[in-house]
Parts: sequence; C-alpha cells; structure tokens
Amino acid sequence: MGSNQGVREWGCAAALAVGAVAVGYLTYRTLYCKDKCCKAKVNQDIQKDNPKVVHAFDMEDLGDKAVYCRCWRSKKFPFCDGAHTKHNEETGDNVGPLIIKKKES
Ligand code: FES
Repeated sequence: MGSNQGVREWGCAAALAVGAVAVGYLTYRTLYCKDKCCKAKVNQDIQKDNPKVVHAFDMEDLGDKAVYCRCWRSKKFPFCDGAHTKHNEETGDNVGPLIIKKKES
C-alpha cells in the first residue's frame, strides 16, 4: 500500500462528502423550502392581511373599456396605472395590463 492509494482514498471520501452535502441541500429545498422561502412573491403590498386577493365585476358595469393590472404594482389595483413600465425597466420583466373592450362595430 503506497501513499498514492491513501490519496485516492481521501479523494473518494471527499467526493462522497461533497455528494452527500449536495443531496442534503436538494432534499432540504424539496421538502422544507418549497414556496415559503425560495420563490419571490408577486404581491408585495396589496391587501396583505387578506388570505386571497380577489376582485369581481359585473360585465354590464365594465363600460366600453377596462384596463386591469397584472404586475401587482399599481396604486389603483386592480386597475392599471402604468406602474408596469417602471417595474419592467427595473426588473427586465415584460408584463402589461389586461385590456377588455367592446368590439367597435
Ligand atoms: S400597473 Fe400593473 S399592469 Fe399596468
């Protein structure tokens, strides 16, 4: 048994240790981290005391055109106020509003 064999054994042990740490980290992320800490929240400050933010409108009340926010940055949420432009500039995102309008006849 030479010193090369000892070095190889230490190399194998180090590789196993690195593999075990990687498996442990992936297991932690899969089982314990899920949505709570590894993903960004889209809603940063709208009705945070509400468990689910929902808005409903009657079709008859929409008028000729309604513009709804999809970036969650509007100060007039659920309506778009143009805040998506700043959000897109700051983040490189590409979100825009949902526009519902009557067909022009
Ligand atoms: S402000 Fe959010 S989509 Fe326009």
